[in-house]
Amino acid sequence: MLQTKPVYASFRSIGAYVPQKTLSNADLEKMVDTTDEWILKRTGIKERHIADEEEATSDMGAKAAELAIKRAGIDKEEIDLVLCATVTPDYFNMPSTACIISDKIGIKNVQAFDISAACSGFVYLLSVAKAFIESGMKKNVLLIGAEKFSSIVDYTDRSTCILFGDGAGAAVISATQNKEEAFIDIHASADGSYADFLVTPAPGSINPASQKVIDEGLNFVQMKGNETFKLAVKTLTKDVKEILKKNEVKAEHIPHFIPHQANYRIIKAVGDALKMREDQVVITVDKYGNTSAASIPMAINDIYESGRLQTGDLMLLDTFGGGLTWASALLPFAGETL
Ligand code: ACO
Repeated sequence: MLQTKPVYASFRSIGAYVPQKTLSNADLEKMVDTTDEWILKRTGIKERHIADEEEATSDMGAKAAELAIKRAGIDKEEIDLVLCATVTPDYFNMPSTACIISDKIGIKNVQAFDISAACSGFVYLLSVAKAFIESGMKKNVLLIGAEKFSSIVDYTDRSTCILFGDGAGAAVISATQNKEEAFIDIHASADGSYADFLVTPAPGSINPASQKVIDEGLNFVQMKGNETFKLAVKTLTKDVKEILKKNEVKAEHIPHFIPHQANYRIIKAVGDALKMREDQVVITVDKYGNTSAASIPMAINDIYESGRLQTGDLMLLDTFGGGLTWASALLPFAGETL
């Protein structure tokens, strides 16, 4: 009988795009009743980047995607699936941002769609790419996490406007027969009973666009910050401990722990619970704020561009967001070092 060798998913390349304009804590002090000291102490954020008015989520996603394809060393014609994770799509109904990005970067006639899992979006995408590749359906999957979060933030609400920023990250996930390069494991989960912790009430089937939506600011993100914070620390710690235990990997052997960048205190609490050293934990929340689905690929890109991420290095990803959703992943970086 003909024996075929198994095919695995491998993380081939990373790219990111960060808008030029910055919004500092000092700028926010002039907009709402807050202080640089409060923001820094409670969140660890110093500044965030904000897209220009005419710059769409797809524009940022396309720039990150082009870089990721170039760094993967493949032609765009070799991409056979385009997936975008975003909660700030160009259009709320259709077309999908993945379709628009595909068009902007000249990828024609391939399957393209978005997923919505808030901050967990990029790790969710990794699990989708893994399934498509390991089933033999696709060979090179382009993943994009892109957010223009500023488009759903109420800049008169001090409890949310200090947290979020804009940006995009992208990766190419390719088929390999080399087990050393393969994703090790991904856990992705959700609990919709906490849906009201993080919600953008409109527009949608419950609250279609109307004067009421505008008057009541229902088009802006609303968050039960403190409740989300507590659940995030608990869930992330449990999830990471489980994925490490299941795969018999010790936390001290992880060179790069790359958590979702929502709040420095959450990252510190999870890192401490795992007894991680400071040099293992990747922090970008100080300069980008929370960029939702873009946060993890932007953080991977940061350590790639600074030369910290080397071929074969193990990455532990961990994320939590609206839905509620959460996910963790254990995988080596299979791309070439910059
Ligand atoms: N400046 C000054 N004071 C403020 C501000 C501000 N910007 N925002 C809130 N406060 C006040 C509150 O009004 C409150 O005052 P009170 O005690 O007089 O009532 C006080 O500060 C404490 O408020 P808390 O909400 O309890 O503050 P907390 O320490 O929880 O920090 C924060 C708030 C930063 C939002 C935190 O809860 C957090 O980071 N939550 C988790 C966010 C997260 O992980 N989200 C998930 C991912 S996001 C996604 O999926 C899109």
